[in-house]
Amino acid sequence: MVAFNLNGKPVSVEADSKTPLLWVVRDHLKLTGTKYGCGVAQCGACTVHVDGAAVRSCVTPLAAVAGKRVVTIEGLSQDSSHPLQKAWVAEQVPQCGYCQSGQIMQAAELLAATPRPTRAQIVDHMNGNICRCGTYHRIIAAIERASKEG
Ligand code: FES
Ligand code: FES
Repeated sequence: MVAFNLNGKPVSVEADSKTPLLWVVRDHLKLTGTKYGCGVAQCGACTVHVDGAAVRSCVTPLAAVAGKRVVTIEGLSQDSSHPLQKAWVAEQVPQCGYCQSGQIMQAAELLAATPRPTRAQIVDHMNGNICRCGTYHRIIAAIERASKEG
């Protein structure tokens, strides 16, 4: 049994301690906003926050989050009011949408530490998050919008 905080609430999960956090979140805790892309930390689709840091949940074992704060896209805000969520809508960022929760969680880490990032900082920070639909220009525009309006 591993206990941690998920989106502000305490949870306990009975699973092998090596189970990737991605599957704990999706299968055990039924939050499916976090996506499986590559499974080997190469695409960013599975990005969540652990104690405020963006991590690839596909390669993060359950044991690594014991006693920690995990936030998924479902917990980023109560009502989709996070500046990034509003900016994502305003810029109509998603195409298929599959990569987007990971993109937003990666971007949220950046803005929490650097509220007014330069374009170069945005590009650098988002570099490991792949979008097969090529929405990169809108992702950058949305992060810049959230930075200004948030
Ligand atoms: S599914 Fe985790 S990085 Fe691709
Ligand atoms: S919107 Fe389709 S993969 Fe990014």
